[in-house]
Amino acid sequence: MTDYQRPTVSIIGAGNVGEHVANILAIKGLANIKMFDLPRKTEDKVFEVVKGKALDIKQMATSLHSDVEVEGFSVSPEGEGYEPLEGSDIVVVTAGFPRRPGMSRDDLLSKNVGIIKTVSENIAKYAPNAIVIVVSNPVDVMAYAAYKFTGFPKNRVLGMAGVLDTARFKSFLSQELGVSVRNINAYVIGGHGDDMVPLLSVSSVAGVPLTKALPEDKLNEIVERTKFGGGEIVNLMGTSAYHAPGSSTAYMVEAILQDRKEIMPCSVYLEGDDARFYEAEDVFVGVPVKLGRDGIEEVVKLDMTDEERQMWRKSVSSVKSGIERIKELGLI
Ligand code: NAI
Ligand code: 2OP
Repeated sequence: MTDYQRPTVSIIGAGNVGEHVANILAIKGLANIKMFDLPRKTEDKVFEVVKGKALDIKQMATSLHSDVEVEGFSVSPEGEGYEPLEGSDIVVVTAGFPRRPGMSRDDLLSKNVGIIKTVSENIAKYAPNAIVIVVSNPVDVMAYAAYKFTGFPKNRVLGMAGVLDTARFKSFLSQELGVSVRNINAYVIGGHGDDMVPLLSVSSVAGVPLTKALPEDKLNEIVERTKFGGGEIVNLMGTSAYHAPGSSTAYMVEAILQDRKEIMPCSVYLEGDDARFYEAEDVFVGVPVKLGRDGIEEVVKLDMTDEERQMWRKSVSSVKSGIERIKELGLI
């Protein structure tokens, strides 16, 4: 017998995205999984859905001969029930509400920042050494809130978006080019919003710059489709995507657990030299980073063309205004 100890990944918010993260981690046998969510109350019954989902995922893993443990825990909106976070190596946060009819952006911000505050305080209390991956939207602002509320060092708090946005970009490119996704090297950086920045100047297909591989109008079409990739799916499904968001998050978890030192775009807090290079102080925004056992182990400085720089500045300033707004509202 080996003394191998499977790592533990906790997932707070076991809705569409959360359960898909759990699914992939379980299928790959990467970690024991703890899932946390609110119970669902009807007039005459309280459903502990998260416990049912955990059992179902455990049984799915078993059917695929994967030995991971999967447990579900009901928590309260006030923050009770988080003790089992203890021992988590990574905590993924997908808890949050979508914007509902009649709800202003500020209402949404205040509801979701409230959730992030409760969740972060519990992570800090029960899993003080964990790495936190925030998925809840608006992700760059929520990752900033989690960074402030946990008080964790900047290498241990990150937001998931760039991996997803880049996957969308690469998927459209590979379809257009008729080439394997493996041959495409591309980055989408900036905030997770309409002004994200697909970086054409450093993207290539089998070493050929994208700008040479496709005509300008086709490339622009793909860039626009990428920027609105989330919205395209919302319009089709009536709810936001969860397969690719789930797999993108699981990919980040895997890179950290396996100490892969893989470079991928993540939303991170920039400081010092990195903040000066990216002209982005006191903000979370997507840049390429090296992911390993210590979380964010290095920020990669990518040169941009003048046009890309301008798009970049606009994207940073959008995220900054979200962060300013939660400060003005006294939420942080
Ligand atoms: P969902 O509604 O299916 O799941 C959210 C879960 O959070 C629900 O199960 C809900 O009960 C739970 N929850 C709400 N308040 C909670 C609390 N106080 N404590 C614990 N759990 C709580 O939504 P979905 O589709 O899973 O999306 C989750 C979040 O991720 C949303 O904010 C969404 O906008 C965001 N998202 C972000 C992406 C990104 O690229 N960063 C991509 C896709 C989704
Ligand atoms: C997405 O990009 C809505 O952030 C979510 O699919």
